[in-house]
Amino acid sequence: MAGYFSGKVALITGASSGIGRATALALAGQGACVALASRNLTALNQAADACRSKGVEAEAFQVDVSRPEEISRLGQEVFQRFGKVDILIANAGEYVRRPGPEITQAILERAMAVNFYGCTNAVQAVLPSMLARRSGHIVLVSSLDGRKGLPGDAPYAASKGALTGYGEVLRQDLYRTGVSVTVVSPARVDTPLLTNQLRVPAISNMISAEAVARAILRGIRRRQAEVIVPWQGWLYYFVNVLSPGLADWAVRRLHLNGWER
Ligand SMILES: NC(=O)c1ccc[n+]([C@@H]2O[C@H](COP(=O)([O-])OP(=O)(O)OC[C@H]3O[C@@H](n4cnc5c(N)ncnc54)[C@H](OP(=O)(O)O)[C@@H]3O)[C@@H](O)[C@H]2O)c1
Repeated sequence: MAGYFSGKVALITGASSGIGRATALALAGQGACVALASRNLTALNQAADACRSKGVEAEAFQVDVSRPEEISRLGQEVFQRFGKVDILIANAGEYVRRPGPEITQAILERAMAVNFYGCTNAVQAVLPSMLARRSGHIVLVSSLDGRKGLPGDAPYAASKGALTGYGEVLRQDLYRTGVSVTVVSPARVDTPLLTNQLRVPAISNMISAEAVARAILRGIRRRQAEVIVPWQGWLYYFVNVLSPGLADWAVRRLHLNGWER
């Protein structure tokens, strides 16, 4: 019997590395055709080859998600190639960090351009056709930082907080349209995004990109509103809701912000 993802078409941004690559491979392994998008065409083609080896169609598309016109072109090319998009994984992201006093408008704009508008423009590129077909699933890869930011992360946390808020409302706006929305908020994941910049304490142990990919596929199948991985992230989230001051203290005490590389 065909599985849930068999024959579906998924567009994944940020598919050249980390969570995006792992999710593309997991979807391909479940029989989905995959459109892989990001800037690094060589890495994308390697990921596409790995997906094709699982017996599905896969194609690489070069795009800089911080450029709205490139995302719009991406949408057109993917529809030309595959005819539809059933699943969007809006995942491309950049870890834009800077201590509060050093933050400039340009730094905030960079974080928003990639992490927020890079996702919302991808949604705009696929949503009209999903609504017309009354079918589709949008996954927004945000971050636990969007729920409770860490010291030094203000630009990144602001862009992810905006994305999480956008996703929460989009989900409600799309109620009964046939299009579902899942916001994914990972804690620390072992990918170049993090390991190139930070060393983190054992208590905020990194999980694998593959573990996040499995949680994403589960979230789609179950039409979950929000996925927080690992589950301990929920504790961190609830402590902050109950007492932000206590959560700040825990961040300082446990060195959760880690150390710069
Ligand atoms: N790692 C973590 O601890 C963690 C935690 C929470 C959330 N996240 C989120 O998870 C997502 C994936 O990150 P990752 O951890 O898998 O990191 P990663 O391995 O560095 O992957 C980031 C991906 O985003 C793409 N990308 C970055 N800027 C782009 C741009 N302007 N246009 C197109 N693609 C762009 C990169 O591809 P190219 O370089 O080829 O363009 C790459 O494929 C991000 O949104 C990140 O914020 C990560």
